[in-house]
Amino acid sequence: MHLIETRDLCYSYSTSKAPVLNNINFIAGRKQRIAVLGPNGAGKSTLFRHLNGILQPKSGSVLIKGEPITKANIHEVRKFVGLVFQNPDDQVFSTTVEQDIAFGPYNLGLDEETVAHRVDSVVSMLGLEDLRDRAPHHLSGGEKKRVAIAGVLAMEPQVLILDEPTAGLDPQGVKELSGFLNALPEKFGFTVIYSTHQVDLVPEMADFVYIMEKGEITGYGTPKEIFLQDDLLARAHLELPALPKLIRALQAQGVDIESAYTYQDAEDSFMKAFGKQPIPRKKVEDPLPYGLDLPHTHDHDHEHTADHYHHHHPHQ
Ligand SMILES: Nc1ncnc2c1ncn2[C@@H]1O[C@H](COP(=O)(O)OP(=O)(O)O)[C@@H](O)[C@H]1O
Ligand SMILES: [Mg+2]
Repeated sequence: MHLIETRDLCYSYSTSKAPVLNNINFIAGRKQRIAVLGPNGAGKSTLFRHLNGILQPKSGSVLIKGEPITKANIHEVRKFVGLVFQNPDDQVFSTTVEQDIAFGPYNLGLDEETVAHRVDSVVSMLGLEDLRDRAPHHLSGGEKKRVAIAGVLAMEPQVLILDEPTAGLDPQGVKELSGFLNALPEKFGFTVIYSTHQVDLVPEMADFVYIMEKGEITGYGTPKEIFLQDDLLARAHLELPALPKLIRALQAQGVDIESAYTYQDAEDSFMKAFGKQPIPRKKVEDPLPYGLDLPHTHDHDHEHTADHYHHHHPHQ
């Protein structure tokens, strides 16, 4: 049984008859990091809107932990699968950032104290302390995006879906957010699903990749498997990430260098190609970039529960 599965999912918007999703079979497992790539209009956002029941398939099905989404379980599904929209203006609307983040948990029917704890915890997770009392509609795009993510995290989903989360962020913002998202599966047992146009991020932050094109899934595999398929990438208007592209160009010129996809592997490949020892690695820094005092969960097989962020908080 998969955490999330679509079976031959088809969809078209009522405004036009053309299918926007065509027989989509999408699977996400526990603690996986999944990237969905494809040109504008491929259907990525439409697919995401099916995964927490905002849209219903015209045919086929969406299964959450093996169960189809129904009126009876939609509330549970929304708690389980959190979706951060592509445009934060669709998500952020309260008078203050703090109220905005509290909105979701309140709607789950949680008591005030629990809501306050959750707000505090995600505010520090996403480094929003200075923005708490600000009006969301006065924030910059990147700030709004972080508020939108905080609002969804405050509902403590197990699956976090983010539609183009790094679009519009500055380089520091991209670095921080990608580090943050990367840490969620290991630290909290999250499954993270996101769309992006930034292919260079993919080897660093995806276990599996789906390629979408004109409403269909045209490719699926590990980043390495996907980035070996030139035709597939060309059809989806995708570039090879810079590092493997450079290494492949050198290999084509007869340079003896091993293929690599991540920055660290590429560094090793280059050192080797120059006849040097790999650079000794510093101990990996805490991958949660905001430097916070989150409770670490070392028991990775333990189911993610609502208390993972604040185990000191027994009720709820
Ligand atoms: N609300 C909508 N009403 C009608 N058509 C839509 C709507 N949203 C998206 N579409 C159309 O559906 C197709 C897929 O869009 P979308 O899922 O947003 O793709 P992507 O996220 O990959 O860019 C596009 O042709 C788009 O114009
Ligand atoms: Mg989209």
